[in-house]
Amino acid sequence: MLRLLGKVLRPPLLGEYLSRMPQGCDFIYHDIPYECWAQILNIVHVVGTGTIGEPLIGLLADFRNELGIDEVTFSKRTPLLTDRTKVWDLIKRDAKLCAEREKWKKFQELEMEPTYEYEEGIRRASLVIDCTPSGTGLDNKKKFYEKVEGPVGFIAQGSEFGFGTIYAHGINDAIFSERQKYVQVASCNTHNIAAIIKTLAFEGGMSRLREGRFVCMRRATDLSEEKGFTASPKVDEHDYGRFGTHHARDAHALFQTIGCELDIFSSSIKIPTQYMHSIWFSLELYGAVTHEEVLARIKANPFIATTYKDQTALVFSFGRDHGHYGRILNQTTIALPTLSVRNPEEIVGFSFTPQDGNSLLSSVAATEHMLHPQEWRERMRCLEPFLFREV
Ligand SMILES: NC(=O)c1ccc[n+]([C@@H]2O[C@H](COP(=O)([O-])OP(=O)(O)OC[C@H]3O[C@@H](n4cnc5c(N)ncnc54)[C@H](OP(=O)(O)O)[C@@H]3O)[C@@H](O)[C@H]2O)c1
Repeated sequence: MLRLLGKVLRPPLLGEYLSRMPQGCDFIYHDIPYECWAQILNIVHVVGTGTIGEPLIGLLADFRNELGIDEVTFSKRTPLLTDRTKVWDLIKRDAKLCAEREKWKKFQELEMEPTYEYEEGIRRASLVIDCTPSGTGLDNKKKFYEKVEGPVGFIAQGSEFGFGTIYAHGINDAIFSERQKYVQVASCNTHNIAAIIKTLAFEGGMSRLREGRFVCMRRATDLSEEKGFTASPKVDEHDYGRFGTHHARDAHALFQTIGCELDIFSSSIKIPTQYMHSIWFSLELYGAVTHEEVLARIKANPFIATTYKDQTALVFSFGRDHGHYGRILNQTTIALPTLSVRNPEEIVGFSFTPQDGNSLLSSVAATEHMLHPQEWRERMRCLEPFLFREV
């Protein structure tokens, strides 16, 4: 038994470090500096409770024993009456709330009880997953992450290009053969594009892609968002030179980490729906391919789901009914009836993006690579029930 600041902890919550201690050992840690906590317990701290942060905190909390995590903490910036139900639910699942000290009173008035101060949450963590948008993760890196010593790693999300090595589970897990301190999980549509390329245009680890074209049809807002809906389709500019939009730029950066230079281009358009993003793709290969070969490759990849459904609403609805908190964790769902092989060196089709689902999976995989480098693969098995073969 171990008492940590008066609280009794028992395995598996103690992590492997403590399970190696002699039986019956009784320690009392009163004055452990925060920087040392990470060496004793596996603490994962999530910054932000938005579209991606909220389900990620829930996922980590629900599977913490299987994932070898002792404690999950999260920080919320704004004390809002309308947000308290999600905070209550996360606390009920044993995740601990962190907030800036000067906002504690307001949180408490709204019946949300913080456990740790905002910076304390970062300093005592083994690993920090930043789920804030629009450059906030990059700012946090300068303001906090580069100044603390405890955490072994920091992970940010899709919008924070340049935060660290870009990563998508199943695409470039090889980056973790070297120590990674800062990792950026690729955006949802980048996951989709990368999964299609790696599955259909790679042979024995080598690219046979002559040229890839992608049109990302983005859902206007997530169901959880109050603002930002669009009444009509709205096209995006090609801001990223030879890549078009950031989706191909990011996918290119992803494959660069495994030594591949790809000729890819993306366009994007926001459409008035809240369900799912869709992607039209065209891959021109070096060498011919058959429809049967394409199908076999898709079916052999556990990260790809297939579907005979032709509407995002139906795919979304399946996720709502069968996913973890409504999420499909696959990197993409390929609409099989749309697959077409022409020339015969070109593959064309449509796919649906399980938006935050694929980023959640990669966030957990990056966490496991960093916390449990020897057994990450084994520990990730607990999420296999949410990787669907067919939707
Ligand atoms: N939405 C998706 O489907 C999706 C999919 C894949 C990847 N991503 C990526 O995930 C990241 C987060 O996106 P999101 O859609 O989850 O954003 P979101 O729903 O807008 O949530 C943002 C969260 O960040 C917090 N936050 C914002 N500014 C902050 C600041 N200055 N300091 C501390 N906290 C701050 C907000 O806290 P308060 O509410 O407490 O103020 C909120 O909890 C982005 O990089 C995005 O590209 C999103």
